[in-house]
Amino acid sequence: MTLTFLLNGECVDAGGLPPTTTLLDWLREVRGLTATKEGCNEGDCGACTVIVSDETGARPLNACILLLPQLQGKAVRTVEGISGPDGALHPVQEAMIECHGSQCGFCTPGFIASMACAHMNGETDHDRALAGNLCRCTGYAPILRAARAAENAPVPDWMRDDPGFFLAEILSGGPEGRGADSPPRAWRPKTTDELARLFAAHPHATLIAGATDVGLWVTKQLRDLERPIFLNGCADLQAVEISDTEIRLGAGLTIARLMEVIAQHHPSYAAMLRRYGSEQVRAAATLGGNIANGSPIGDNAPALIALGATLHLRHCDTRRAMPLEDFFLDYGKQDRGPGEFVEAVSLPRQPDRLRCYKVSKRFDQDISAVLGCFNITVKEGHVRAARIGFGGMAGIPKRATHVEAALLGQPWTEATIDAAQEAWAEDFAPLSDMRASADYRLSVAGNLLRRYFFEDQGAAISVQEVRA
Ligand SMILES: Cc1cc2nc3c(=O)[nH]c(=O)nc-3n(C[C@H](O)[C@H](O)[C@H](O)COP(=O)(O)OP(=O)(O)OC[C@H]3O[C@@H](n4cnc5c(N)ncnc54)[C@H](O)[C@@H]3O)c2cc1C
Ligand code: FES
Ligand code: FES
Repeated sequence: MTLTFLLNGECVDAGGLPPTTTLLDWLREVRGLTATKEGCNEGDCGACTVIVSDETGARPLNACILLLPQLQGKAVRTVEGISGPDGALHPVQEAMIECHGSQCGFCTPGFIASMACAHMNGETDHDRALAGNLCRCTGYAPILRAARAAENAPVPDWMRDDPGFFLAEILSGGPEGRGADSPPRAWRPKTTDELARLFAAHPHATLIAGATDVGLWVTKQLRDLERPIFLNGCADLQAVEISDTEIRLGAGLTIARLMEVIAQHHPSYAAMLRRYGSEQVRAAATLGGNIANGSPIGDNAPALIALGATLHLRHCDTRRAMPLEDFFLDYGKQDRGPGEFVEAVSLPRQPDRLRCYKVSKRFDQDISAVLGCFNITVKEGHVRAARIGFGGMAGIPKRATHVEAALLGQPWTEATIDAAQEAWAEDFAPLSDMRASADYRLSVAGNLLRRYFFEDQGAAISVQEVRA
């Protein structure tokens, strides 16, 4: 696979390398650009943050779990290219000096990349923009002061990558290719039809969407992935279709984009996603990857189960659909055959009754200990419909069918919530692990239903504002 992208404004060819080469290793070891640092090597600390742009805009991404083929036709800017020609400083760099935002300096290039990206996008919610960057010595106050101080400075000219590059990429379909005599080591299909044919023909290939899971197989488990298929070239896999009756979300949608779309229909879902990883993780991770990996603590499945979502699977030209909860068979086991992939998720348009409660030790950048999602319809004082989805309570994301049954038809009162209490243990036998004990999980689940009830009765709602 040949591979071209812009690096700090210069068109580079990074072809000929193993498709699992991370951008971070390539920058440091091949290009000698050592400003971008390796901290955790698993997407958690932000020391390796770079800015990646394409025709849809600029976003911060973690270079340690970004694989080179994901960059085809995009533009990458590292700290070396955030400073201008002749060493001119970017406004966020000047502000970091003024505000004493750096001590040992190890985290600083990652902060500068996140800050410069937020500055370019006019983002002023700096807590949100910097939640994926960890600093162990300066303290965040001076860094946040620097981000605020640079807000009104103009974006330097050198930060704007030539839009003609992206346009040429789109028109030509990209300069990928290979010699006639060398079989491909990786594929990057451009349409979902092409993906469907490829995966059916090579059912043991590894699908790679955002690589926020797969990247760790490479960096932590040192796995050599045979013949990966990269999905991020399939623009139609990222489509959103909204009709009067249904919202259909393509599997390739990033969590960042999903947040924007869903905020208009179910703001509590979007507010919960605001706590999914960090800005860098949300810009890479996809809805399809989050469901296909079958994680019992993935944040999307419980919300979608509560909304009555349907999962759409595809194998070559054959499609099948199922209620999302039926996809998760057991821990690590999903109802998906070889060569079959997640194409989309659809959910019925409905009045918004959804509330999602993510319980984790940290507000940002933390996996759920328990995630409870409630969608309960009350008419004339009685429960007429109830769908409750939970993560962290079993080996799979799961519907609380016994609790739902205990609520259905009952008066919508605290006494009904009390009476449903015993049903929690019929639905779930959670584990104790480092995130929470089994007892804690069971009692917090019941308490979340109580919270839903009180919020429904008009108690103060603490759902965070989410920008659409
Ligand atoms: C620092 C960090 C923080 C995180 N925080 C959270 C969090 O708060 N909440 C949360 O839920 N998760 C979190 N995650 C986990 C991760 O983001 C998700 O599981 C992610 O959604 C996976 O999506 P992806 O596109 O990156 O998938 P990938 O890593 O590309 O793939 C994951 C798996 O899904 C398969 N796959 C991908 N797309 C498809 C498809 N369309 N059809 C079939 N199979 C497919 C791949 O082959 C692979 O097996 C975090 C991860 C990191 C690194
Ligand atoms: S090195 Fe920590 S996020 Fe990449
Ligand atoms: S300045 Fe030392 S880690 Fe941030």
